[in-house]
This record gives sequence, structure tokens and C-alpha cells, in this order.
Amino acid sequence: MFARILCLLSIIALCGFAPLDYRIYAPEAKRIVERMTLEEKIGQMTLPSIDMIYHDGGLSVIRQDKLGAVLAEGDTVPPQGPELKNWQALAEAMKKQATFPLLLGTDAVHGNQHVANAVIFPHNIGLGAAHDPELINAIASWTAYDVEQSGFNWIFAPTVAAAHDYRWGRTYESFASDPALIKQYANAYVQGAQLIANNRITGALTSTKHFIGDGNTDAGIDEGNDTVLNDEQFLKDNYPGYIGAFEASTGNVMVSYSSINGLPMSINKKMLQKYLLPYFSGFVVSDYGAIEKAAIKVKRPYAKVLADAINSGIDMIMLTNEFPQLYTSIAQFQQILLKDVENGLISKRRIDEAVVNIIQVKLAMGLLDKNNLPMSKPPGDENQIALQAAEESLVLLKNNRVLPVDPNKLKQVILLGDAVDDIGSQCGGWRIVWQGKKGNQYTDNRATSILMGIRNNVGNKVNIIVNDLPASYTHHDTIAIVVLAEFPYAEYLGDVGNNNPLYNHIRNPYAPTFEPKDLVVHYDKTIEKRIQQLKAAGVPVITVLLSGRPMVISAGATSPLRLSSAFIAAWLPGTTGGQAIANAIFGQYHFRQISQTNTLTFAWPASMQQVGQLFCARSGKKPKPLFDCGFGLSD
Ligand code: GLC
Repeated sequence: MFARILCLLSIIALCGFAPLDYRIYAPEAKRIVERMTLEEKIGQMTLPSIDMIYHDGGLSVIRQDKLGAVLAEGDTVPPQGPELKNWQALAEAMKKQATFPLLLGTDAVHGNQHVANAVIFPHNIGLGAAHDPELINAIASWTAYDVEQSGFNWIFAPTVAAAHDYRWGRTYESFASDPALIKQYANAYVQGAQLIANNRITGALTSTKHFIGDGNTDAGIDEGNDTVLNDEQFLKDNYPGYIGAFEASTGNVMVSYSSINGLPMSINKKMLQKYLLPYFSGFVVSDYGAIEKAAIKVKRPYAKVLADAINSGIDMIMLTNEFPQLYTSIAQFQQILLKDVENGLISKRRIDEAVVNIIQVKLAMGLLDKNNLPMSKPPGDENQIALQAAEESLVLLKNNRVLPVDPNKLKQVILLGDAVDDIGSQCGGWRIVWQGKKGNQYTDNRATSILMGIRNNVGNKVNIIVNDLPASYTHHDTIAIVVLAEFPYAEYLGDVGNNNPLYNHIRNPYAPTFEPKDLVVHYDKTIEKRIQQLKAAGVPVITVLLSGRPMVISAGATSPLRLSSAFIAAWLPGTTGGQAIANAIFGQYHFRQISQTNTLTFAWPASMQQVGQLFCARSGKKPKPLFDCGFGLSD
């Protein structure tokens, strides 16, 4: 299998089967670089956040530090608020300051998440369950279009991680535990976002991440260590997503924070030079503060680790303001890099090579072309595409002849749970702010909570009671819908059991006490009592789980699975998730209408002991999961 992968890669490398080889722009890029000063070259290699730019004195820092790229980090919000017009004005103002066309990057990992009222698609774990690469392609095109409409041109997506352990706070960013599916979906995403035609990117630049093994760390610790005893198995599990992205000519790869056998990926020259650079002609960027974290981890001077990272193949450095002991401004970072060159730790040839790699991609994006046309609007209706993706992502795990519910036979629907009217919990992390946020703020009438979706479908037929029990109810005229939801989280703040001291200084401001303690799900006492009362009257209970990962739902006699007559895994379905769930419950949508939709791409654990042992593609002895990959009931 792996020999076949390498052979395929060699074909891509030698015959350039990928739709665009960025090296066709080398002659022009080299001419541009020849005319640049060393400071200008270093400016192209520097990637600060907007927040760092403001911290250093305002947008004029873009000109002063000769910056070639800027990122909106997870918590960046324009001073006037996250509305589209404010992002457009900010992007315009940044471009005006630039002395060289800017790359403007954002984590549009499930839609253009930092803009108020944006359509938010299901996170990757749900798109995996939809098994619909054409839909992923359309989602990527709409995401690129929305990003460009907001003035940005670079998407830090797709994540092609192969999540192995559900304790990882980024499990939901992984499409599947089947590398062949990750490869297919990565390819579909990159093609849809970049829209390459005539050797030009006519959409947005993608950043395929995080190279390599981000989802394969021991115990799922984010930014942790991959203990790799068998290179071939490691590559079989974690590499195919990159092959899919290479074949679609992704223009950028982001290197992982994680380590392999103790060596941080940012300075893992062997992996970068053996499995990335020969098959990829874009440019390589480090992750946010990853070089700083690597220097702290290996206990070596930052300047030396920075030189190692660039000499290993990283072309652009994503900065952070989290380690003031290393540098306190963008200019100070640039001085460190300049010194590395002056001291011979990084050759001028390597600097030129890095800047040529970056400018080749900018030329392919048309950034230096005055007549460069904006991306045209993709076909179809964005919100309908989001709704279809949300519907196809739902997985029916249990159905004791309850779904679909005929509202004509009902008098009342009881809704229980604190996320029944909570679009923020449907979206999860990476929305408006890094960690995401509960509630319905920054949504428009295209977005629907579960309550809104149910009102839309049956509000004119039945009485809807929220977080209470009606005076009377029978199994003839009533159903109950219980919503269980993980609190929104992103990255290591969603880890279970991560006590890495590096992260203790950072807390989720929207959930000061939130730390996922466990993956075992129970109803809270009030809800459980109400469910027992309803069950005593024979009222069917439908449970919907909003989560970024499979969770333990079958622990004990009062487990949610045991007490439910029907159980839907909804993942993080996004802004149309409420309507999708209502459609699936009341029959406007039927599970598994098209072959593979609505089926698991991650096996469902029967216990906490199994959460790191169920990687589906892994052959050999595995515990018996509650539900295996490919499972999903039709209705
Ligand atoms: C984060 C993430 C990465 C993201 C980057 C910029 O720490 O690891 O996925 O693209 O920083 O926000």
C-alpha cells in the first residue's frame, strides 16, 4: 500500500499530474526577489496577526515592517465588531499600507467563521459522515467566495488530520478515521476552494494542515507527541490527506505543533524534506507560535531553532505574542531572523528560495496582476447547500419505530436541554471567536436553532413546550426531544486530560470553569427525572447529541442511549443544523436516502477505555465498538 503511495507521489512529482505546478512562476518570482533587499525578503517571510500589528503601533506597521502576509487569529475581531463591512474596511486598510501584495489569512474551517451572520457549515467530522465529496467541493467554493467577499484570500483549511483518540480537542476537524476518505475529501476541498484554471488560482489559497500527525498524538494530547514505532503504519494513517491535497495543487501546507518521537515537526527536517517538499510546489508556513513552543520544548535558543525550522523547509513564520521572553514585537522577531542570516545560520540562498516559494504562489493567485478578477459567485444557494450537508451529516444510532414522527398525530412536543435554542452550540469552536460561543448572537434569519426548526416544521400543528412538562401527556399525543451538547471549544481547551503546563495560562473566557472532564455523557438530574416521568407514560424520547466527537452514551442503566427511543448523533452541524434536525425528526429528510450518507466515519466507543483504540483503518486487534465505522440506520 505504502509503496503504491510513494509511486503515485513520484508520478505527481515527475510528471506534474497536479493541475498547477507553482514553479512555472519561478522565472518571474526570481526576478522579483533579485530586486528585493534582505529586509524586504524577511518581510515576506513574516506572518503576524492583526492583533500583533495593532499592539506594535497600528496598521502602518505593515508598511514599516515590509509585511507580505497577515492573519486574523482565532480571537481577532475588528474594533467596530465582526460585521462584514468592518472586515472589508479592515482588509482594505491593510492592503493600502502594504508595499507588496498581501496574503490575508483566516481560519475559515467551516465557513467564513469570523464574520457575523456567515453561513456556518458542519465541521469536518460531520462532512465525513455525509460521505459527499461533491458537497464538500461546493462548500469549499462558497467558503472561498465568502472569504474573498470579506477582503481576505487565504483559508487555513482543510485540516487533513486522522484523529486517533477522541480525547483530542480537535477531533471534530478530522473528516474520518479512514485515510482513503480523508484523501478524497481533502482533494475535493482544495479543488473547490482554489478553483484552478489556466494555471491560476481563481478562488482562495488553501492551507492544508497540520503536517504531519497532528491527530495521532499519544492520548490525543493537542500539540503533543506521536510515538512512532512503525514509519510505514504512521504514514499510511496520516499521509493520504496530503496526497489528496497535493493532487489538487494546494498552494500552502501548515506544519504541525506536534512532535514525532520527541522531535517537533517544525524542525523535523527528515519528514519535511522526504515527504513534503518533493511532492509540493507551494510554500510552507509554521503554525501560530510553533517555533517558539518548539524552542521551549527542546530547551534551545530561539534563534537557533528558528534557523533549524527555516533550514528544514519552513518558508514563512506565523508569529505569536504569547512568549514575550523571546520577542516583544514583529520588528524584534525580524531582527532575530536577520541576525541568523548575518551569522550564517541561514544562507541567503535559503532566504531567496523561501521568498521565491511564497511569491510563486502569490503570482499564481494573481495578486501581482492589476487586472486580477474577483472570484465569481458559486452556483446554487449557499444556505441550501449548508442545510443539505447538515442533513446528510446526521447519524441515526437508534430508532425504536419512532422516526419519522407524524406531526398530524401529535398534540405537543416537549423540548428539553439548554441547547434547544442555541446556534452557537450547533457550530462549536472557531466561530466569531476562537473558542466559539453559546447563544444565537451574530446570526441572521438563515440560521435555525433546533427550536426554530421545529417551530418551522410543526409550530402550526402542535404545542411546543420548552424545558418544562405539560399538565398532561400520553404516548398517543406527545413526543419529547432532548438535546445534549458539548460546550463549544477549540484546540487544547477541548482536550480531555491535558495537563500540559504550556496551556495553563490560557483559559476559555466564555467558559471559565469549562474543562471537558470526560467523554461520558449523562442527562442532568432535572432532565433525567422528567425523562423517567415521560417514559412512565410511554412518551417516546428522542435524544440529539451536539458534539465534536463520538462520546460514551451507553454507560449505566440511565444512559442516554438506554433511556432514548431514538438517538441522533448531530456532530456540530452549523447554522442550519436546527432545521436539518427538525427535518430528520419530522420526515422532511430521510436518513441514508443516498447510499453512504448519514454513516459514521469514526467508530462509536462503548466505554472510555476505547476512545483511543478504534481507528477504523487500523487492521489487527481492536475492541468491539458500540457502533463501527459505516454504521447508520435509515428511517
Ligand atoms: C492555531 C491552529 C491552526 C490555525 C492557526 C491560526 O493555533 O493550530 O490550525 O490555523 O493557529 O489561527
